Amino acid sequence: MKFFVDTADVAAIRELASTGLLDGVTTNPSLIAKSGRDFFEVLKEICATVDGPVSAEVTALQHDAMMREAEKLRKVADNITIKVPLTVDGLKTCKALTTDGTMVNVTLCFSAAQALLAAKAGATFISPFIGRHDDIAQDGMKLIEDIRQIYDNYNFATQILVASVRHPMHIVDAALIGADVCTVPPDILHKLYYHPLTEKGLAAFLADWEKTGQTIA
Ligand code: E4P
Repeated sequence: MKFFVDTADVAAIRELASTGLLDGVTTNPSLIAKSGRDFFEVLKEICATVDGPVSAEVTALQHDAMMREAEKLRKVADNITIKVPLTVDGLKTCKALTTDGTMVNVTLCFSAAQALLAAKAGATFISPFIGRHDDIAQDGMKLIEDIRQIYDNYNFATQILVASVRHPMHIVDAALIGADVCTVPPDILHKLYYHPLTEKGLAAFLADWEKTGQTIA
């Protein structure tokens, strides 16, 4: 499974990229607003930090305007992935861009039917928002299962990019289902490392090592 980080915080992206475990980045208009920075400047910095796909979302609603925005965004760097909403115009734009060799992430997916349409439009990534489903007492992970089955039934190459991730078990469950990518806020990615028995075991090993009076270096 690939790990993308879901943020426009360049310092947090740099820190995660230094682990060698980061495969890409997703942003959205809300995350850009939260950063308080210029969209294009942030994108340039992110693309220079991470080799993998960096999703940048269009804000136009009509196909022609989406294409114009995508044209500007994809000039930022080769690893820019154009993010379009799951609307008729978004899918039209997806089809046009992917036919032209541009990576496209279709966002705001909340149903298996929508995911099927995105695959038919040639999407590189489909982003089902599981946390927002869970927030309204629906089963976000069931959506991932359904999309996996549909894509496997027809050998669609579209990658399932699990979005709106709220906790580590979302990532584990998505990996068990066979989702291709999870996009995760930085604090949740950091939580993946933690286990109390690792901490306890390490403290015990170091205490015993201290007793030997030896050093390795
Ligand atoms: C995905 O690309 C979105 O940016 C993101 O995962 C949305 O998450 P949220 O529901 O926590 O806002």
